[in-house]
Amino acid sequence: MTPVLELDDVSVTFRMGGPLRRTSIRAIRGVSLRVDPGETLGLVGESGSGKTTTSAVALGLRAPTSGTVRFDGSPFPRRRRALAGRMQAVLQHPQWSLDPRMRIGASVAEPLAVLGGGDTAPQVAESLAEVGLDPSFAQRYPHQLSGGQRQRASIARALITRPPFLVFDEAVSALDVSVQAQILNLIRDLQEAHGFAALFISHDLGAVRYVADRIAVMRRGEIVETADAAVFYERPAHEYSQRLLEAL
Ligand SMILES: Nc1ncnc2c1ncn2[C@@H]1O[C@H](COP(=O)(O)OP(=O)(O)OP(=O)(O)O)[C@@H](O)[C@H]1O
Ligand SMILES: [Mg+2]
Repeated sequence: MTPVLELDDVSVTFRMGGPLRRTSIRAIRGVSLRVDPGETLGLVGESGSGKTTTSAVALGLRAPTSGTVRFDGSPFPRRRRALAGRMQAVLQHPQWSLDPRMRIGASVAEPLAVLGGGDTAPQVAESLAEVGLDPSFAQRYPHQLSGGQRQRASIARALITRPPFLVFDEAVSALDVSVQAQILNLIRDLQEAHGFAALFISHDLGAVRYVADRIAVMRRGEIVETADAAVFYERPAHEYSQRLLEAL
């Protein structure tokens, strides 16, 4: 089975500073992971451990300093547009994907634009219904929605092109606990219905437990453990994983 996503020995170094004083930060080092079709890999680790940098590489938004990335068995095309509709991201703050000045319907329809085609209204209505929002929400603005509804709309947007791969980066972290559970259940239901693969990133091991088939633990830019979720939550191998779980 060809993985949907494969990172092999990926490192990312950020270089900063002017001509006189230069520093560099190695955000991730030697990261190898794969996400198989239909599975969810949970990526956990404390703040600054390199999760978002890893997701940026996985989404083709940042080129690795070294190492290789394969999507559907091939290196990323040079023009990211060629991937349009095949991967999408759901981020921590819905305002990062929902423009406050645009109606929800227009934001949800946006990923379809690069694919071309005609009237998007029926697909928008279908996508909104799938995430539990009435089609009338298409006419509203983000500020007229609750936090949970906004995150549902972001998910509708991410799903509208039926991508085989989705990245969730702290997608429930900003929500109240009760709303978190609803959104996590929604993600699980949608995955059952559509069979997409996902990279689910969170510092919250409790949230990851709801959705992940396998877990990768990051610490200071490196993956220290990868395990089946069932095994991981019972018997974490790495001492750092044990500490994370004890804090839960
Ligand atoms: N654009 C950037 N320029 C310089 N350094 C960066 C940049 N982005 C991230 N870093 C650094 O890289 C390291 C990893 O950051 P990253 O955002 O990937 O961690 P994270 O696990 O997503 O953290 P969080 O849980 O807070 O979201 C950190 O030390 C961070 O300060
Ligand atoms: Mg992050």
